[in-house]
Amino acid sequence: MNAKKILVTGGAGYIGAHTVVELIQSGYSPVILDNFSQSDNTLLRGIERIVNTAPVFYKGDCTDTDFLKDVFRKEKSIQGVMHFAAFKSVGESVEKPLDYYRNNVGSLVSLIQVMEECDVHDLIYSSSCTVYGQPDLIPVDETALFKKAESPYGTTKQVCEHILEDLYIARHKLRMVSLRYFNPIGAHPSGNIGEIPLGTPNNLVPLLRRRQPESGINWWFLEMIIRHQMVRAYVITSMWWIYQRHMSGHWNI
Ligand SMILES: NC(=O)c1ccc[n+]([C@@H]2O[C@H](COP(=O)([O-])OP(=O)(O)OC[C@H]3O[C@@H](n4cnc5c(N)ncnc54)[C@H](O)[C@@H]3O)[C@@H](O)[C@H]2O)c1
Repeated sequence: MNAKKILVTGGAGYIGAHTVVELIQSGYSPVILDNFSQSDNTLLRGIERIVNTAPVFYKGDCTDTDFLKDVFRKEKSIQGVMHFAAFKSVGESVEKPLDYYRNNVGSLVSLIQVMEECDVHDLIYSSSCTVYGQPDLIPVDETALFKKAESPYGTTKQVCEHILEDLYIARHKLRMVSLRYFNPIGAHPSGNIGEIPLGTPNNLVPLLRRRQPESGINWWFLEMIIRHQMVRAYVITSMWWIYQRHMSGHWNI
């Protein structure tokens, strides 16, 4: 029996690369799509070292519907999509809001349009805890309403969730899950893939590591946090658990 093909947008990035490894090791057949705007082929090579085979990869942009159609056509039997491709820097989004709306919202709209045309209806969307703005209660759970987002990046995530909700209400065939990541950190135990941002890191751990490699920061403590929040357990397992149960909705992870 052929393995199920899953399109992984942004699969050359941090969370996407870990997902690709988990998919392959769980018997799926991921197809990676990335434009390398925030990455290069480092994590693709890392994936290859872990699974002993080069992952299927297409270089191109998620906002480009012709390119997307081409990938769906060439791959023929894609059954679902995990959409990670996005810009994610809160600070940069304040300076360049239009880039963020064009890339993050534009990618989702193009992707869904092509999925519809190609009769693919299952989507896992990478949302963020930023959708909550400044919540009234901490810890925040999924019943909390969206407050005003604190950056254009946060607004793009809210808009994308609204788009998915509207499609669901319209009795669209789309079956979707939004996962609101808080602060996934960690690396694959093999050390072959991890968070390797281009330019200035946007997330806490790579920023600390790059800014203060010789500092007195207790890296042992950080490593402990990393182990306990290992991406594998924290993101991937919950993602696939939800996907396999064919649910629609949104979850904090
Ligand atoms: N890492 C976190 O802490 C965190 C927290 C909350 C939400 N998220 C969300 O999870 C997703 C993945 O995050 P990540 O940490 O892996 O980011 P990342 O920057 O490591 O990976 C994103 C990948 O998407 C690619 N990409 C961006 N725009 C694209 C486009 N238009 N077409 C094709 N490829 C494109 C980039 O080149 C990059 O490889 C993002 O949607 C992000 O907003 C991440």
